[in-house]
Amino acid sequence: MKTEVTGVNFNEVQAEVLIVGTFKHPENTQYWSELVSFYGASLEKWVKSGDISTDRKKLTKLPALQDGKLQRIFFVGLGDRKSLTEDDLREIFGMVGKELVASKSTNISIWLDSFTNEDIEIEDATYLAAEGIGMGLYQVPHFKTTSNANDYYLDNIELLTTSDEKEILSFFNLGQVYAEAVNEARTLVNMPSNVLTATKMAEYAKELAETYDFEYEELGKAEMEELGMGAILAVNQGSTEEPRLIVMKYRANDDWSDVIGLVGKGVTYDTGGYSIKSKDGLVGMKGDMGGAAAVLGAMRIIGETSPSKNVIAVIAATDNMISGNAFKPDDVITSLSGKTIEILNTDAEGRLVLADAVTYAKQQGANYIVDVATLTGGVIVALGKDKTGALTNNETFFETFLEASVETGEFVWRLPLTEKDKKRIRKSDVADLNNSPGRDGHMIFGGGFVGEFVDNTPWIHLDIAGTSESSVSHDLGPKGGTGSMVRTLATLVERMSMESEE
Ligand code: BES
Ligand code: ZN
Ligand code: ZN
Repeated sequence: MKTEVTGVNFNEVQAEVLIVGTFKHPENTQYWSELVSFYGASLEKWVKSGDISTDRKKLTKLPALQDGKLQRIFFVGLGDRKSLTEDDLREIFGMVGKELVASKSTNISIWLDSFTNEDIEIEDATYLAAEGIGMGLYQVPHFKTTSNANDYYLDNIELLTTSDEKEILSFFNLGQVYAEAVNEARTLVNMPSNVLTATKMAEYAKELAETYDFEYEELGKAEMEELGMGAILAVNQGSTEEPRLIVMKYRANDDWSDVIGLVGKGVTYDTGGYSIKSKDGLVGMKGDMGGAAAVLGAMRIIGETSPSKNVIAVIAATDNMISGNAFKPDDVITSLSGKTIEILNTDAEGRLVLADAVTYAKQQGANYIVDVATLTGGVIVALGKDKTGALTNNETFFETFLEASVETGEFVWRLPLTEKDKKRIRKSDVADLNNSPGRDGHMIFGGGFVGEFVDNTPWIHLDIAGTSESSVSHDLGPKGGTGSMVRTLATLVERMSMESEE
């Protein structure tokens, strides 16, 4: 894809489609009169009559009246100029991206200045255009032999603005990097588990590590047995597929003493094990590696942007299957940390694989930890499908994280984790912990269980069971994997890297 910046001269537009932000009273937008003289006076008439809608999120497509390359203008309704927020604008650009796919437009021109207001400066609008359109362009990969869907690509983007070319390009490129990482994560989530096995996920990670020069390590079953990773091994016990613990290190500096750990649940398929899911509950469980996808997506952004903060990524990849070898309720297992666990429910497997992954991250030097996982149906009951649930043991760390999530527009809501909750996680007649204290408020027990393995390390738990996939098409993309938390994790690392520079 080629991107270039030109001034605001409508007569010289080279694209097939021109995209114009249209606030209420567009006549107050600088250069609007130039657009009117280029397009014709009917433009003003149509805005007044409502044939061109200025309502927020309303798109009006009109043919270009002149002979030439330009075929169409998309008037993108932005509504009231004052109240437009960055989150609105990201979604609006997402809609534009989806419309470009639907109309198979390959050469586009975006009049960036028309999307700014008092709060949204040209740099932000540029970034959001790239990020929003990039996410909106995403198409779910498929295995249909009779369809030629997904044969569409955007070739050329022309950016119309009076601002500095170099600056505009760098903001646009950054937005593209974020969108592409989200889209890669979406594809991982959308892949069926017979294609994306733990071994395949590790191959993907290895390639990522090679591209960005990350240190890479991969532990298989034999290495896990040697180290005593009894928790992830128990989950893998019923499977014919080997598990993988995937480890990537991004070294921002020689000193490996200040390290943020990103830990992802990579359950490639969750049958529930002997605590088997219902036949309806099984469908969709190929997406139980959304946490791993979030970490891999964030690492891609980190590789592209090189923040000055050390990062270790640890992903626990396995499926959760049934066979004569599978682990069972009543089993007692010993985790890498040495803590013993009484299994009460084999469907509470995510917390088990995360226990060993978090312990390994700590052993490898992580002194901040964020774990991200499609951990509980409970979070969906509590918060719905558009909010990620969080737990933490550190207010300051969580504040920084929350600021990052506000910046990316990914809604996160914190739930409490009390001493009484911890007591219930530690209640067992035969072991140090139990993996399923009950169904009441069980998002807290799931995350709280992982917390037992971080001790005093500043820690945030993210339950993305609701947000990792969407059951409907939305402004920023189609039905399926959403790439939840990719952007927020990368933004968190970016913010922490700025803090440590200060
Ligand atoms: N992978 C599931 C959680 C999940 C549910 C993800 C729905 C996406 C959509 C997890 O491993 C699980 O089965 N959790 C159980 C925990 C229970 C056994 C304590 C649940 O949420 O019911
Ligand atoms: Zn489960
Ligand atoms: Zn699961």
